[in-house]
Amino acid sequence: MTTTGEHRPASPAERQHVSDLNALPADFTWGVATAAYQIEGAVAEDGRSPSIWDTFSHTPGTIDNGDTGDVACDHYHRVPEDIGLIKQLGADAYRFSIAWPRVVPGGDGPVNKAGLDFYDRLVDGLLEAGVTPFATLYHWDLPQALQDRGGWTVRETSEHFAAYASHAVERLGDRVKDWATLNEPLCSAWIGHLEGRMAPGLTDLTAAVRASYHLHLGHGLAVRAIRAASSDARIGIVNNLSPIEPASASEADAAAARRADGHINRWWLDPILGRGYPQDMVEEYGVELPVRPGDLETIAAPLDWLGLNYYFRQIVAADPDGTAPRAKQVPVPGARLTHMDWEVHAAGLEQLLVRLSEEYGVRRIYVTENGSAYEDVVAADGSVHDPERVRYLEEHLAACARAVDRGAPLAGYFAWSLMDNFEWAYGYDKRFGLVHVDYATQRRTVKSSGRRYAELVRKHAERRGGRAAV
Ligand code: IFM
Repeated sequence: MTTTGEHRPASPAERQHVSDLNALPADFTWGVATAAYQIEGAVAEDGRSPSIWDTFSHTPGTIDNGDTGDVACDHYHRVPEDIGLIKQLGADAYRFSIAWPRVVPGGDGPVNKAGLDFYDRLVDGLLEAGVTPFATLYHWDLPQALQDRGGWTVRETSEHFAAYASHAVERLGDRVKDWATLNEPLCSAWIGHLEGRMAPGLTDLTAAVRASYHLHLGHGLAVRAIRAASSDARIGIVNNLSPIEPASASEADAAAARRADGHINRWWLDPILGRGYPQDMVEEYGVELPVRPGDLETIAAPLDWLGLNYYFRQIVAADPDGTAPRAKQVPVPGARLTHMDWEVHAAGLEQLLVRLSEEYGVRRIYVTENGSAYEDVVAADGSVHDPERVRYLEEHLAACARAVDRGAPLAGYFAWSLMDNFEWAYGYDKRFGLVHVDYATQRRTVKSSGRRYAELVRKHAERRGGRAAV
């Protein structure tokens, strides 16, 4: 069931933000994003096998409230309704991820036709609704069968990933043109293998560095596989990045900021963009990379676009006794925080977009995720009024426009997220959606932020005169 609630007119400040968006190009892509394990549910249906997130979320003590993705938003059974919501939000593109364990349940080996059928129906539904599909091949749900054989710490997983990518593109590539290989490999490697807060839950620097390398190799091999399967595919990778600032003017903090920048940003950009691995970080980690001849060229395969997921900046201080990168994030006094305790700092998005353009020479960028969690309240009339998320959205879109003004080649923005969903280790408590989900009934309600997003899309189309108003 979908409800939209009552409409609130824009305030003068909000109208100002609308005019700020004039710099966005006429053919700007307005999207919303999700990921398979966070919304689909149906974890044991139609041949899907367990992923590392099924294992992790069912391990006591890993997820707030003991939540799991078993049902999530039940999207697997609600595709038509959810496509209707995408339309209601005014989005002309939808970024979703394909679950590897649905498509190749063993990780390698036979393809599960029923798994691909689901994405086939989703893609057809999107295209019928006039929504462009952006598919991500890996949003953290590695088949458990591969984890049992070493997961991302072994080279074979990169090769199996490329084979799975071929199967997905062979089936969907006639209709899906925009493909992302990996979502936020930083989280898979650093949070999953070093900090232990995400699947597979390891705390081992050697495993983490090896995983980062095999994720990159898997990306490069997948780019090759996608191009072989679809000559007109447009391929990117999605990284979560943060501007890093030193906590003080001390030399120790400046050096820590440089290391944190290496850990969070350069490690994930340099090899992909043909610069090889940053030597200072190779030394910092002290872990030998399992490079074979030709690998670095494979990893740096030419791309059509780069995806940027932006949530917060990081202010760091030296942490001499800590593990690599020996830098710790410190709180920002007086900062506005979301329910994740993340600082709201829209200028950081502008800064990263300009950096990608000026320092790395990237020629096409999408903001593939940006959004905020707040403690939403459902009013007596069923509506959800979320002014903080509205403000967050407006400020970050204005930051995008400023970056475009400064020459950043920004082609589109995907709000995270279409709807509230399973927020990994935080379970269902943290709500990022433009659409509220009542998990007891699966009732969907478009929040004020969702209506505001639709309005911004419409205004942009009207002002640029490039498209019919939504
Ligand atoms: O929900 C996640 C998403 O899966 C990856 N990027 C960050 C989001 C918010 O934490």
